[in-house]
Amino acid sequence: MVGSMMRIGVLVSGSGSNLQSIMDACERSEIDARVCVVISNVPHAYALERARQKGLPSVVVPHADYPDRASYDRKLVDILTEYRVDLVALAGFMRVLTPGFLRAFSGRVMNIHPALLPSFPGLDVRQKAIDYGVRFSGCTVHFVDEGVDTGPIIIQAVVPVYPDDTEEALKERILKLEHKIYPKAIQLFAQGRLTIEGRKVFIRDYEKDESLCLTNPFLNR
Ligand code: GAR
Repeated sequence: MVGSMMRIGVLVSGSGSNLQSIMDACERSEIDARVCVVISNVPHAYALERARQKGLPSVVVPHADYPDRASYDRKLVDILTEYRVDLVALAGFMRVLTPGFLRAFSGRVMNIHPALLPSFPGLDVRQKAIDYGVRFSGCTVHFVDEGVDTGPIIIQAVVPVYPDDTEEALKERILKLEHKIYPKAIQLFAQGRLTIEGRKVFIRDYEKDESLCLTNPFLNR
């Protein structure tokens, strides 16, 4: 089946730890797909080194080289089309995509965000969660629509937040879960189990557990 395996294009801007978790999950066959190209808008992003270490093709497309978002995104679409990408995974890609890009890959673009959407969209969201005093935050994998962090949600994971948290500590706590839920969301897509209906994502063979419950602080200690 290797020949027909789903092809993922990953867009990055930074360290690429999520890219790493996706590549590793593919290698372990936890995702029935493979990463076929990594694209970075940042020339020296460590993510590029991670792709190189796996022997995967990577392309740098600096946004400063393009007069506007539309022409930049057309270049991205050209590269992703050339590599016959089925799914685009944004992994710390710090740019908003144009409607033109999203039309080209309709229902086939995912993003991971380090908060429990719709709380804390946008930037600096871990510090914002700490400053707000929430007891929980987490991460969200969602399909990308034309808004900023507004698309239909696929998976969320929850971590506790403490009033004396540092941004770094919360970031690490959330990242550990990012590295679990992003590969899982991609595998659900690869298995053809996801259907988008309006704002909702339905998952085929979805196991429910209505006893699932978390409080912070604990109720009984
Ligand atoms: C991750 O925490 C991801 O959720 C966040 O950037 C980090 C990238 O880390 N993405 C966003 O904030 C998107 N707006 P990584 O490069 O190590 O995967």
